[in-house]
Amino acid sequence: MIAELAKDIFWVGYVDWNVRDFHSFDTWRGATYNSYLVRDNKTAVIDAVKAPYVDNLIKNIAAYTELDKVNYVICNHAEPDHAGGIGELLRNLPNATLLCNAKCREALAGYFNDIDSWRIQIVANEEKISLGKRNLMFINTPMVHWPESMFTYVPEEELLFSMDAFGQHIATAARFDDEYDLDAVLREAKSYYANIVTPYSKQVQTTLAAAAKTPIKIIAPSHGLIWRTHVADIVAEYKNWSAGEYAKKVLIIYDSMWESTTQLANEILNGVVSVSSEIDVRMFHVRKSSLTEIATEMLDATSVAIGSATLNMQVMPQVAAVLTYIRGLKFSPKFAAVFGSYGWGAQAVDILDRWVKESGWTIVAEPIKSKFRPTKEQIDAAKNAGSILAQKTNNPNHKSM
Ligand code: FEO
Repeated sequence: MIAELAKDIFWVGYVDWNVRDFHSFDTWRGATYNSYLVRDNKTAVIDAVKAPYVDNLIKNIAAYTELDKVNYVICNHAEPDHAGGIGELLRNLPNATLLCNAKCREALAGYFNDIDSWRIQIVANEEKISLGKRNLMFINTPMVHWPESMFTYVPEEELLFSMDAFGQHIATAARFDDEYDLDAVLREAKSYYANIVTPYSKQVQTTLAAAAKTPIKIIAPSHGLIWRTHVADIVAEYKNWSAGEYAKKVLIIYDSMWESTTQLANEILNGVVSVSSEIDVRMFHVRKSSLTEIATEMLDATSVAIGSATLNMQVMPQVAAVLTYIRGLKFSPKFAAVFGSYGWGAQAVDILDRWVKESGWTIVAEPIKSKFRPTKEQIDAAKNAGSILAQKTNNPNHKSM
């Protein structure tokens, strides 16, 4: 199927139907590495694909043009899911010059030891290159997603090649947002934002503010569906996500050895639902849940209860993984409660309490520690913690914390 974004601008990327792990991101729908061809008096390829799939990219390019007619390859981002195949691509495009910014060249030099033999032209922020009827303008977007990241904009088509930004991990034969279930595309875009982009939300806001001055009809990311019908929707979502907007949502995240911590988690749940049935409350047993899913829900959660049984004076291993992952993603601060059971030392709850405080979150109830099975008092305390979390979540002033 030909996917033409505008006259003589084609998708030439690769659909990775079977990838299920993307450096720990669960890609349960697969992924795509989007590459684009702009055919004009001069011809340009925007971004490459992962190294193992470069032959598919070259075949796709050859369907639209002779390989020696390609004048430029643009590298918007040096991460190997896009740039991994760029060396081999250049070897197959004898007349192509690589266009990238100085930081990108530096990053590529860290991956490719033959870069000195490549024809490279460094482009500056907002520099324009004419292809004939159309121009390519380069816009640096540092830290969205790496320091060298940039967008490529085609003013004549109001088309933005946005690299990772606005992307989603979905393998599909559809190419455009109006050819796929919109809720699913937005859900995967949210998951992508939560798991990849959140730490750079400030830079996203800067980028959005700059982009607001530019008319955009099509956003062509380097993963997933191309936005041509729902551009305003995805831009609005990026504004919300990058601003750290909260939903009326409580997460209960825990691990248990002999179900005492599970019992406390259930009582916290009872406390939440006793306050309001309108709160979106979700339970995650960490050994039965995906880190990707937890992070996606964490993005806009207002409150979080975290529990762990004590194992060898520590939190349980998968709880530790969650703490490490969540801290790195730098989500907006939450109201929090911590809980857990123990046999002869309650270190896990102390670790959780410390982690929450160091993260700048607000503890709303005394830590709950139960020696073996919870007592009636501890059950009441858990229910009460759930009810306080629910009240805080309902509080319209929660953003002021
Ligand atoms: Fe899709 Fe940051 O690479």
